[in-house]
Amino acid sequence: MTESIIVEKLNKSFPIKSTNGKGLFGIFAKNKQRFQALKEVSFSVKHGEILGYIGPNGAGKSTTIKTLTGILTPDSGKVSVEGFTPWLDRMEFTKHIGVVFGQRSLLWWDLPPKDIFPLYKEIYEIPKEQFENRVNYLVEKFEAQDFVNTPTRKLSLGQRMRCEIIAALIHKPKVLFLDEPTIGLDAIAKEKMRSFIQEINQKEKTTVVLTTHDMNDIEALADKIIVLDQGSIIFEGKPETFKKMHVKEAVMSFEVLEVKESNEFISLLAETKQVVQEGNYYEVSFNLDKMTAQQAASRLFACCNTSSFQITEPTLEEIIKEFYERSQKLQNPSRKPKA
Ligand SMILES: Nc1ncnc2c1ncn2[C@@H]1O[C@H](COP(=O)(O)OP(=O)(O)OP(=O)(O)O)[C@@H](O)[C@H]1O
Ligand SMILES: [Mg+2]
Repeated sequence: MTESIIVEKLNKSFPIKSTNGKGLFGIFAKNKQRFQALKEVSFSVKHGEILGYIGPNGAGKSTTIKTLTGILTPDSGKVSVEGFTPWLDRMEFTKHIGVVFGQRSLLWWDLPPKDIFPLYKEIYEIPKEQFENRVNYLVEKFEAQDFVNTPTRKLSLGQRMRCEIIAALIHKPKVLFLDEPTIGLDAIAKEKMRSFIQEINQKEKTTVVLTTHDMNDIEALADKIIVLDQGSIIFEGKPETFKKMHVKEAVMSFEVLEVKESNEFISLLAETKQVVQEGNYYEVSFNLDKMTAQQAASRLFACCNTSSFQITEPTLEEIIKEFYERSQKLQNPSRKPKA
């Protein structure tokens, strides 16, 4: 079997706790209304693949992770993670997965991480020598030697997150679920976290499911992405494909040193939108459906000698930001005042 994770038509709803203006009584009153957090979600992840699971706040990312790790039971649908149905075979299943929630801790506040790790040795029934070798290996790999004996409450967020991942990897899980592992980290700590995740994935062929709001995580790590919006998958594929589908315009900037074919240059400019023109410096945007970046560059070089030439397309971060903004507008269209 090449698939590590198979999800079919997953549905999950939560009761809506609304008082309906009935005061305290309303809280206890039976309310049959439910909020549909996941709607017919289906996807698969291959062994050793890194899946970037993204979407705006409230899209259903954590609900998916909780269902795939057996914390939540769905209303309907099928899930297979390494051949297990997470919410049915929890005891045995947890030996095969590792989970890190960026917003919640696996560690105990007053104890140093090193004193917590043996707890996982017992839970996962790891032989003593194997456990010790594994902890030493991970502590070294995650460069945690200097703080692994410090009480958790005294650790920086970046240090704590490294210990969280060590705890999640002690039993060498086949699948690692990471729900916002870089949240709140500074740029250097994020970079480190990405390279640790990448290394574990490559060395141990661990399947990784990663949720994040940081598109740099996605660009650095994800083999494929799933974009979730209001509980439904709206895209599954390579990040580059998502980019291509949504990038409609590119910007070409250049300084003209000499015009060789003025008619050609005029017609090229006519097909673009001028963003900036200061003296001989131009910034023009053009529609990628009409002209590829390469065609635009070839046409320019055929009619002009230029310097400081550059073509820029929006980054994944910008595309996703625009996409989320559009999705929010659809969810909250501005209300017209009542007449
Ligand atoms: N235990 C719960 N009870 C009621 N509603 C819930 C519960 N858990 C999640 N929800 C609702 O389900 C929806 C999806 O939540 P979820 O936490 O999965 O979103 P998310 O994509 O992880 O968002 P974020 O990016 O903010 O972490 C939200 O509207 C949330 O309010
Ligand atoms: Mg979440």
